[in-house]
Amino acid sequence: MSFDTLKKHLTVHGQEHLIKFWPELSENEREQLSEEINKLDLAEVNQIFRRSVEASKVIQQKADDDLKPIPDSHYESVPAMTREKVDEYEKIGFEEISDGKVGVLVLAGGQATRLGFGHPKGMYNVGLPSQKTLFQIQAERILRLQQMAAEKTGKHGKITWYIMASEHTKVPTAEFFKKHDHFGLNEEDIVYFEQGRLPCFDFDGKIFLDEKYHLSSAPDGNGGLYRALKTQGVLEDFTKRGVEHLHAHSVDNILIKVADPVLIGYCKSKNADCAAKVVQKSSPSEAVGVVCRVNGHYKVVEYSELTEEASERRNPDGRLTFSAGNICNHYFSAAFLRKICGYESKLKLHLANKKIPYVDDSGVRQKPTEPNGIKIEKFIFDVFEYAENFVCLEVARDVEFSAIKNADAVKKDCPSTAKEDLLRLHRKYIREAGGSIGDDVEVEISPLLSYGGENIKDLVENRVFTNSPFHLKSSIELPVQNGVNGKH
Ligand code: UTP
Repeated sequence: MSFDTLKKHLTVHGQEHLIKFWPELSENEREQLSEEINKLDLAEVNQIFRRSVEASKVIQQKADDDLKPIPDSHYESVPAMTREKVDEYEKIGFEEISDGKVGVLVLAGGQATRLGFGHPKGMYNVGLPSQKTLFQIQAERILRLQQMAAEKTGKHGKITWYIMASEHTKVPTAEFFKKHDHFGLNEEDIVYFEQGRLPCFDFDGKIFLDEKYHLSSAPDGNGGLYRALKTQGVLEDFTKRGVEHLHAHSVDNILIKVADPVLIGYCKSKNADCAAKVVQKSSPSEAVGVVCRVNGHYKVVEYSELTEEASERRNPDGRLTFSAGNICNHYFSAAFLRKICGYESKLKLHLANKKIPYVDDSGVRQKPTEPNGIKIEKFIFDVFEYAENFVCLEVARDVEFSAIKNADAVKKDCPSTAKEDLLRLHRKYIREAGGSIGDDVEVEISPLLSYGGENIKDLVENRVFTNSPFHLKSSIELPVQNGVNGKH
């Protein structure tokens, strides 16, 4: 595109300031800038800005009358289930795994800003006795599940691991996996794909320049999943491999039951197209989104959108009425994802005021100390309302949820709490299997040995654990793979 055409194109869409520094740019810089501009559909970008601003102006009505909890017919709780019921769902899940119909969608495109980690979060090592990273733990849970499914069904099936990364995390993630021999998984069972980005705007809808020759942009949120599935050929990959069930989750939950057969079996037996695993809110004021129904539609209502009365309302049995805490842990049928991806451009857009570095009119790069513009994100849960049969599965927080969001200084949802939560769970598994262990003893059970507390009786029964830190390994243990922050 010639300079004149570029200028005309930008002017039509009110973004001509982007070439303000053109005369100062080198040939390469001009090429980079025009390439970045040409990649954008400016009409769509401007519309996205307008839509997100309009959506943010709609005053969130705290109309409690419209809010209803998830009906009992669409809600089951693992802690309240009989062992027989759990086994029944698990058996169905194992069959689906053995038939190669299960895939995992890990959301690994985030920027880990709060954690302050300059690498993909999956490479984080919280300092467990094994020094394993989040990615290694998840990979080994997949390996163990494949083995368990083969033992239970007599058929050896593969779980496909779909890893959604973003521009900055894709290459380092793939390199990390390669360097560590894919943690024992087959390379062809791992599919990396890249989510999109959206420009960052000032409050008037002008796209910021991050450098004189480079536009400011950010990943389009974990709801960018749907566009990426469509544009990156992942939907076709489901078809090619015969994948029918997807377990989608955030990369930062150290307790994640990857490809959980109970979830898969529950969803299949209920004929669900979309589901959320939830944990009970710890208190009315816990700042977590709640899965509920709003005017008959399944939604996640943010903590800030609930009135105090609704947050505190209790059922006759004393449980919070709106207690289904959303933990970014979902089930989708492949058929549902195909449908949703057809109209993903209509999904809700969330706007956040942020401090966005930018090049000012005099060409100096500024790092604002106050919010100066907006970032727009899509959220993975905004598709719940389009499900034909949405269900919820409540799980125990101490068994399935501990997220790494913050740096240790915050003392909450951080690496040290994640490490402690995992070790506490493993102590519980050891005691349930007949071993004896004090609360101050650190014993980690390898995921290659046990997915959820099974298969350890022979190793722990009547044994007293005093050595700490200790790694209870499998006979097929992989070499220790330190993360980039192995110092922890
Ligand atoms: P968070 O919203 O907690 O973001 O993402 P984050 O990147 O981990 O941390 P902050 O907000 O920058 O501090 C929840 C999950 O969604 C993924 C994250 O990787 C995490 O697994 N995510 C988030 C994406 O995959 N893409 C995004 O654009 C945003």
